Amino acid sequence: MNILVTGGAGYIGSHTCVELLEGDYGVVVIDNLCNSNPESLRRVQELTGKSLKFYEGDVRDEALLRKIFAENEIDCVIHFAGLKAVGESVAIPWKYYDNNLNSTLVLTKVMNEVGMKNIIFSSSATVYTGDNEMPLRESSRTGNCTNPYGWTKYMTEQILSGMANADKEWGIVLLRYFNPIGAHHSGRIGEDPRGIPNNLMPYITQVAVGRRERLNVFGNDYDTHDGTGVRDYIHVVDLAKGHVAAVKYVLENKGCEVFNLGTGTGYSVLDMVKSFEAVNHVAVPYVITDRRPGDLATCYADPAKSANVLGWKAEKNLDDMCRDSWNWQKNNPMGYGE
Ligand code: NAD
Ligand code: UD1
Repeated sequence: MNILVTGGAGYIGSHTCVELLEGDYGVVVIDNLCNSNPESLRRVQELTGKSLKFYEGDVRDEALLRKIFAENEIDCVIHFAGLKAVGESVAIPWKYYDNNLNSTLVLTKVMNEVGMKNIIFSSSATVYTGDNEMPLRESSRTGNCTNPYGWTKYMTEQILSGMANADKEWGIVLLRYFNPIGAHHSGRIGEDPRGIPNNLMPYITQVAVGRRERLNVFGNDYDTHDGTGVRDYIHVVDLAKGHVAAVKYVLENKGCEVFNLGTGTGYSVLDMVKSFEAVNHVAVPYVITDRRPGDLATCYADPAKSANVLGWKAEKNLDDMCRDSWNWQKNNPMGYGE
């Protein structure tokens, strides 16, 4: 079985390539490297002792996609390629709509032409409206996104589910990720954000390694156990394994199904700081600052559907996540860019 992984050089993509190769799938990657380094793919092959095929290019390049499908017998696509910086999407919305929507439209157009209609899409918990009760179920309300990034995820879900509705040959899985953190236990691959990290864990690790002075904790007056925001952090290796489970599912089932990939447990910002310090014996200085616009107090998943239907469940705990995030950062203080 050969899997085309778009955005495979990125954070979640590279970890998923490891799990696919270890599961004896053939892996073909397309990535334009706009937010990644090809060193990640070299290390994926080094870790697994297996090779993958890499095409450097853009998923919106129709001719390149035709070439990839002509040169490889692809059985399923995992579509990670996309832009993900929320703040940038507010500043430059066209860039996000163009990249995230057109990549999916061009990809599915070519898939339709070649008659290979199995796809797994990287969606996000950000598609849920802010007024839902916790935990979030796949049937919870979606929409009312607060930024263009979120809308691209919401719109792509609409596009793909509409296609599955109209053409019963499509097998589509929409995976709504909660908050992926951590890294492969080897410390060889991990998250390598460009510039100032937007997300909590890479910020914490950069403070711990001395690249940033202190963490800004965005508000401590939320209605949570310690006033700071609560999220469902999931180890990226668990998340990657969720994709392998989704591949198995989509190869046997048609239609469009949506699954949460989360642990079902929420931790606050200060829980994260304290665990990180305790597990790794390093200090993470922080200050409390204003709330970040658009943030919710609490967000966590009900992962029951993934367990029941995909047979997948997150296995790693918060200590694993903190330890592996730090192991990656301290071994690669400048990410792949050393
Ligand atoms: P990432 O930026 O590390 O990986 C995305 C990869 O896609 C990068 O390697 C980038 O170079 C590539 N890419 C982007 N646009 C492309 C294009 N047009 N053609 C070819 N390659 C392109 O991000 P990630 O954290 O690995 O996220 C993967 C997917 O999961 C994204 O779609 C993201 O929106 C989604 N997601 C991520 C998170 C998260 O917290 N990391 C949460 C929810 C959803
Ligand atoms: C953010 C995005 C979301 C996206 C997800 C994954 C926003 C509003 N939401 O989710 O759309 O799908 O990333 O890319 O940007 N925090 C701090 N200090 C920091 C960073 C974060 O206190 O420097 C806090 C936040 O307020 C939040 C928690 O840490 O309570 C987690 O933040 P983050 O990692 O950015 O994830 P989300 O906000 O859940």
